[in-house]
Amino acid sequence: MPKVVFIDHQGADFHVETPVGKSLMQAALDNGVAGILGDCGGSCSCATCHGYVDERWLSKLSPQSETEVFMLEGVPQPRETSRLCCQIRMTPELDGIVVTLPEEQV
Ligand code: FES
Repeated sequence: MPKVVFIDHQGADFHVETPVGKSLMQAALDNGVAGILGDCGGSCSCATCHGYVDERWLSKLSPQSETEVFMLEGVPQPRETSRLCCQIRMTPELDGIVVTLPEEQV
């Protein structure tokens, strides 16, 4: 299965495997990764699955929806690489993707 590397705000890394088609938010929750809350269950309405995607994978992601862009405008520390992990579905091309988690979600 493809892998995801989550890095918490203190630099600790968590390596998880997740099936193609599953969201990175759900992958984090399924594996007990702290730093992703997923309060809305993946409906793009809470932004508690905010993460910073490593630049090497940005071009491989599907484009942001208008709703995701809107939700990211409300996170405390947005960056150019900010995405909502519930809106990223694992694909074979994303194997090894690295996502750093913001401090506000601990
Ligand atoms: S889980 Fe709520 S926006 Fe991603």
